[in-house]
Order: sequence, then structure tokens, then C-alpha cells
Amino acid sequence: MGILKAENVYRSFERRGRRFDAVCDVSLEVPSGKITVISGRSGSGKSTLLNMLAGTLKPGSGTVTMDGRDLYAMNDRENSGLRSSAIGVIPQGKSLVMSLSVLDNVMLSYLLKGSVTPEIRDKATGALGRLGLSGLAEAAPKGLSGGEMRRVSIARVLINMPDVILADEPTGDLDAGTTATVLSLLREEADRGAAVLLVTHETEAYGIADILYEMSEGKIYIK
Ligand SMILES: Nc1ncnc2c1ncn2[C@@H]1O[C@H](COP(=O)(O)OP(=O)(O)O)[C@@H](O)[C@H]1O
Ligand SMILES: [Mg+2]
Repeated sequence: MGILKAENVYRSFERRGRRFDAVCDVSLEVPSGKITVISGRSGSGKSTLLNMLAGTLKPGSGTVTMDGRDLYAMNDRENSGLRSSAIGVIPQGKSLVMSLSVLDNVMLSYLLKGSVTPEIRDKATGALGRLGLSGLAEAAPKGLSGGEMRRVSIARVLINMPDVILADEPTGDLDAGTTATVLSLLREEADRGAAVLLVTHETEAYGIADILYEMSEGKIYIK
């Protein structure tokens, strides 16, 4: 299982001509077999940190490594290979391909590789079922609610069995029952050995943390 590690990552954004520090020199390791939760108010820098860990937002300074390899020193092919298999990301924003069915969205990485097999189709169908979306497999994403779309992106990550799962507000827009289902699926992932990082401003998720941090003004504090 891969070890994902951030060392002194820093990222600022330009705001009305001024520099604004969104994440200030954060160091963090996401251990396998555990659920790490970063809590914190909206705007505290959680998504910025998660995107840097995901390999999709280059830090202004500092490094992110997976098994000692710098994510931002890789070529595009290595980096996208890593992102499609070793690191599974459940993004905060919309991530579905609107022209594909829900089922095809779940199987997206296999579709792109041209390697959809009956087993993959079964796994994808099973993942949709576990997330309460069985009836929507052939639907287009367009008519789905925000919470349904989020669950499709969770199903997509689950079938890839990544070493690391980075989930950005995965229970946003979900009712209490579905939130409990998603948290128990993330626990199963940690139990199979995945390193799970969940960032959220919702207190429901804090109880599931093996390791709990609070993020405030771009810095993290262990709780
Ligand atoms: N692309 C961007 N351009 C400018 N400011 C940004 C950008 N992304 C994030 N920010 C700012 O950085 C801060 C942290 O944002 P974010 O990481 O999304 O926080 P959180 O996920 O905790 O709500 C916010 O004040 C936000 O407005
Ligand atoms: Mg966010």
C-alpha cells in the first residue's frame, strides 16, 4: 500500500491584486488502514490541501510524495496513471461526464482504457447498489440530484480499489441514512488497507475518525 505524504505544502491565490495564503506549510501523512479526518470551517483551506495531495493542484512550495516519489516531478503519463489507480479522489465539485450513463461514469477509468469486462460491469453495478442507486444505472447524470451525483463519484472510486482515497465533503447533500452508508463504506475501504482522508465541515463525520485534525486559516492542528 502506498504512503501519501505532504511536506510543508504551501499555496496562495491572487485575490484582487493581493496574495491570499490558503494553505500554510502543512505537513501530513495519510496512513493506510485508517480514516484521517480534517475538519474545519468553509474557507479554511481543506479543498486546496486535498487537491494538492491528489496531484491536481501544484503547491507553491513543499512536496507531495507517494512512496517517496514526488507527484509534481512526474511526467503527465506517470501522474495520470497514479491518479487513475493508486489515488482515488471524490471531489467536492461536479465530476461526472454528462454524456455518459451513470453506470459508464462508474466504469470511466476502464472505459478510457478500453478494458470493461463483465466482472467490472458487475462490480460497478454492485457499487451502485451499495450506494442505493441501482435504479439509476442507465440514467443520464443530468437529472440526478447533487447527492446522487456525489454517490456516483464514490462508486467510481470504490471499484478502482485505490491505495489512497481522498474524499472532499463526501457526505455533503446526503441525508442521515445515506451519510451513514457512505461512512461505513469508507470504513470498509480502510479495513481492506486503504489510506482514507476525509475533509468535511460536517460534524457527523468526526466520529468516524481514527485521526482527527482541525484546519483553520490554512493550518492543521491535531485534535
Ligand atoms: N482558485 C482559487 N482562486 C482564488 N481563491 C481561491 C481559489 N481556491 C480557493 N481559494 C480561496 O482559498 C480559501 C480556501 O479555499 P478552500 O480550500 O476551497 O476551503 P474549504 O475547502 O475549506 O472550504 C478560500 O478563501 C477560497 O476562497
Ligand atoms: Mg472545500
